[in-house]
Amino acid sequence: MTANELREKYVAFFVSKGHVQIQGKSLLPDNDPTVLFTTAGMHPLVPYLLGEEHPAGTRLVNYQKCIRTGDIDCVGDFSHLTFFEMLGNWSLGDYFKEGAIEMSFEFLTSPQWLNIPIEKLGVTVYEGDASVPRDEESAAVWKRLGIPENRIAYLPREDNWWGPAGSTGPCGPDSEMFYYIGDAPCNKDCKPGCACNKWLEIWNDVFMQYNKNAAGEYEPLTRKCVDTGMGIERTVTILNGKRSVYDTEIFAPVRGAVEQAAGYTYGTDEEKDKSVRIVCDHLRASTFILGDPKAVSPSNVGAGYVLRRLIRRAVRHGKNLGIATDQPFLSPIAAILIEQMQGPYPELMENKARIIEELDREERKFLETLQKGEHEFEKLLPNLLKDPRKIMPGRLAFKLYDTYGFPIELTEELAAENGMKVHREEFDEAFKKHQELSRAGSEQVFKGGLQDHGETTTKYHTATHLLHQALRLVLGEHIAQKGSNITAERMRFDFAHPAPMTPEEIQKVEAIVSEQIQKDLPISFAVMELEAAKASGAIALFGEKYEAQVKVYTIGPAEGFFAKEVCGGPHVERTGILGKFTIQKEQSSSAGVRRIRAVLV
Ligand code: ALA
Repeated sequence: MTANELREKYVAFFVSKGHVQIQGKSLLPDNDPTVLFTTAGMHPLVPYLLGEEHPAGTRLVNYQKCIRTGDIDCVGDFSHLTFFEMLGNWSLGDYFKEGAIEMSFEFLTSPQWLNIPIEKLGVTVYEGDASVPRDEESAAVWKRLGIPENRIAYLPREDNWWGPAGSTGPCGPDSEMFYYIGDAPCNKDCKPGCACNKWLEIWNDVFMQYNKNAAGEYEPLTRKCVDTGMGIERTVTILNGKRSVYDTEIFAPVRGAVEQAAGYTYGTDEEKDKSVRIVCDHLRASTFILGDPKAVSPSNVGAGYVLRRLIRRAVRHGKNLGIATDQPFLSPIAAILIEQMQGPYPELMENKARIIEELDREERKFLETLQKGEHEFEKLLPNLLKDPRKIMPGRLAFKLYDTYGFPIELTEELAAENGMKVHREEFDEAFKKHQELSRAGSEQVFKGGLQDHGETTTKYHTATHLLHQALRLVLGEHIAQKGSNITAERMRFDFAHPAPMTPEEIQKVEAIVSEQIQKDLPISFAVMELEAAKASGAIALFGEKYEAQVKVYTIGPAEGFFAKEVCGGPHVERTGILGKFTIQKEQSSSAGVRRIRAVLV
C-alpha cells in the first residue's frame, strides 16, 4: 500500500463513520509562543479541544504535516523522522474511549481496510497513578475486540500520557497500538515494552480529559475529547513488510537521487547508509518548511535556526557520502520531492522557486563557512604541530565551531589528516556549557508544549486583528499577514510590504487601533461557507488552507464593522479591555516582509 492509498483509505474510513475531512494546516503555528512547529495533528485544533465549537462539527478527520525536532539526534536510525505526516481523527465531545478504540481496531484489522492480522498487534493502556486511575475501561474494550490479555501492556505516565510537556493545554491518558516487526513475538507474553524491542508504535488514541493550566494543575474538561494520530511513514513501512521507513516508496525517489548523486549503493556500508538517511530526512523537512506559505528563511533564531541546522547537516552528510560540493546538490533532489508530494501538498509546487533558491543560497553559504573554517584551521596548524602529544585542545575546536560554525566532525577529520586528535572531552564540556546557556533560548521551544490561552494572550490575539486592519487602512489593501507570534508580554506581527513604515504611518496605525479600543467594540463570530465569508468582506490568510465551513470573527457591529477575519479564535468579548496599545518597533523580518512588535499595557 502506498502513502497516497493509506491517506485516502483513512479519510474514507472515518468519513464513513460520520467524520468531516478538514484541511491540514501550516507547519508554522500562528499565535503560539510555545512551539516553533506544528508537532501533531491536534496542534491546530487546540482551541476546539478546549471547548470552542468547530464549524465542521464534532467528528473530524485529516492528514497533517508535522515537524518534531526533539528527536533530531535519533534521526539516522530506521524509524525517527523530523518531518512526518500524521493521520488523525477527532471527537469533540462525541464518542470517547469505546468508540475510538472500536474504530481504530476496525480500521487496522478489517479485510476491507488495512487487514493487519491480530497476532501482529499489541496495545498499551495507562497504568494509573494517584491522580488518574488505571485505564481498565480501554483494556476491557481491547479484550472484547479480540486482543489477548497477554498483548495488553499497562504502562506509566512517561509512556501512556499525551499532552504538553511543561506547558499548558489539553491532555489525558492514551492507548497506543503497536505492530510486531519481527517474525513472531519472542514469547507468549511478549508485548509492547518487551526487551526484544520489536514493537513499533503506529497509532495513538488520546483520551483528552484535562486541561493543564499555567499553575500545572489538571482541570477536568467539560467536554471530553478524543485525539488520535497515526504515522503515515511507519504504517506504510509495516504494511509493506519493510524494515525501515527509508525502504518504502515514500523515500524511494529521494533516496535514489541521493545514491545517484553520491555514486553509492545503499546497503553497502552502515556509516554511509546512516548519512543517506539523514540527508533524506533533513532534505524532506527543509523542503516542507520552505514550501510552507508562512515563508520562513534560514536564520539564527527560532524556526529559521532549525531550518538552517537541517540544511547544513544535510550538506555535511552529503559531503560524508563524497558528493561533490562545487554545485549545490540539495535543490535538484528537492525538485524530485516536490513533484512526488505535490498531490497532497500543492503548496510545494506553488513555492517551488523559493524552495530551490533558498536551498541553493544556504548550501553555498555553508560551503563558504566550511572553507573559512578550513582556512582558520590551517592558521592554527603550525602551533598545533608543536605539541609532541599531537592533541588539539578542545577549546580551539570549540572556537572553530562557535565562531565559524565549523562542525566538530570536520575539525576531527582535518586533525586526523595531520596526525592529530582533538581533545574531545574538553570540546564536549565547552559545548555542553554553551548548550546550557542557550537552553533558555529557542532550543527550549522545540520540546513541545501547546498554546497558552490565558487572558493576556487572548487579548493580544484580538489586537492582531485590529492591527491587521489598521495596516490595511494606512498602507493599503495589499497588506497580507505573514505570521504572528504572541507571548504574555508582547505581540509580533509580520506582513508583506516592500518598504519600511514612516514614523507618521506608524503613528496613524497606532491611533486607529487605540480608537477601536476606546470605542469598546463588541466581538462576535459566525460560522459560514468560506466563499460567503470572503464575499462578506472577511479577510482570509493567503496561502492558508481552510475548510468549506469556517468561523468568522467580526470586530464592531455587523453593519459597519471595523475588522472581519476568518479565524479559529478565541477572542475577547469587547475591545475595551485591551488597554493601551503601543507599537514598540517596526523592522525588516525578511525580504519584502516587515515585522511590528507591539504591547498592550
Ligand atoms: N496527539 C497524539 C500524538 O501525537 C495523537 O501521538
